[in-house]
Amino acid sequence: MELPHYPPLQRSDIVAWLRETSEARLEELWRRADLVRQQSVGGEVHLRGLIEISNHCIRLCGYCGLRVDHRELPRYRMTADEIMACVQEGVAFGYGSVVLQAGEDPRILADWMADVVRRIKADSPMAVTLSLGERDYDELALWRAAGADRYLLRFETSNRELFERIHPPHPGRVSDRIAILGTLRRLGYEVGSGVMIGIPGQSFDDLAGDLELFRALNLDMIGVGPFLMHPETPLADPQQQSVAAPGEQVPASELMTYKVIALARLLCPRANIPSTTALATLNKNSGRELGLVRGANIVMPNLTPPKYRVHYEIYPNKACIQESAGLCHQCMEVRIKSIGRTRGSGRGDSPNYVAR
Ligand code: 5AD
Ligand code: FES
Repeated sequence: MELPHYPPLQRSDIVAWLRETSEARLEELWRRADLVRQQSVGGEVHLRGLIEISNHCIRLCGYCGLRVDHRELPRYRMTADEIMACVQEGVAFGYGSVVLQAGEDPRILADWMADVVRRIKADSPMAVTLSLGERDYDELALWRAAGADRYLLRFETSNRELFERIHPPHPGRVSDRIAILGTLRRLGYEVGSGVMIGIPGQSFDDLAGDLELFRALNLDMIGVGPFLMHPETPLADPQQQSVAAPGEQVPASELMTYKVIALARLLCPRANIPSTTALATLNKNSGRELGLVRGANIVMPNLTPPKYRVHYEIYPNKACIQESAGLCHQCMEVRIKSIGRTRGSGRGDSPNYVAR
């Protein structure tokens, strides 16, 4: 199958796609994204086992249910043995990697985390992905040396003013996620980032800028999902919500999420792109599948023990929150088969990273 040649997308083309309403034209976008996905990363869908290792967080992100001042939320931090039990479950399911995710939790000590990474690497063939927020250079370097393969840190929005509005500064710290992504790259990590779609105040031009930044950063992994309002956060308060000018505000919709997935695929052909839980939350029936046929090639079944996962409530009504690891596993297998794709084998490194 020859890939038709399309001229590189400019900012104005991206904005036009984001504003596109014609179903026939959108069919063309889905078709192109699916073709580029097949050509660039193939038909395999890789499974990443997600382990939400701590829901403690010291930050005050305006959208996130784990923010420090959400006092009603019961907090947990998994032990190393509990994490290893989840890892073994992932091995039994044949997953190529695990993602260890947490709020920004300074009591996840650097040495402890490095030990956990070493244990996983010693006991399994899996790639280890960390998603632990904005951490110091020394910690990121230590974990890389311990064997961590990948790191996920979404920049959330490329609009600096909007970023600052929804990320109050932490005393003594400047948030510069773009700089951290550069550090991760230099340390030899496979680097992932992404954004939320439809943040109050996010314009079409902002979102097009996000997509251009994916390309400029040459990301190995790109995770995007709709903004979902959490009632216990400032962004749920209409008084505090500033929306973009009339006609400029990006909707936090299912359709907009597919557009961003498809455009991310066209801009970064060899990146690994998941069909995310936030998308599945908007359409529990077929959100995951539609993401996979419109550019995505990854799913992230949840391995977190049910007693903890109910408390990892970054937004309400999260898909999979009541399921067990076994159920999520079966569910994903059925969904992958239903669209005629196959499960990936091996670690599923991003061809972008491998080429580098
Ligand atoms: N709605 C949608 N996505 C959210 N995230 C955090 N809070 C929300 C929310 N309310 C996303 C952020 C973060 C990722 C782990 O989850 O993009 O980086
Ligand atoms: Fe968790 Fe479908 S993946 S229930």
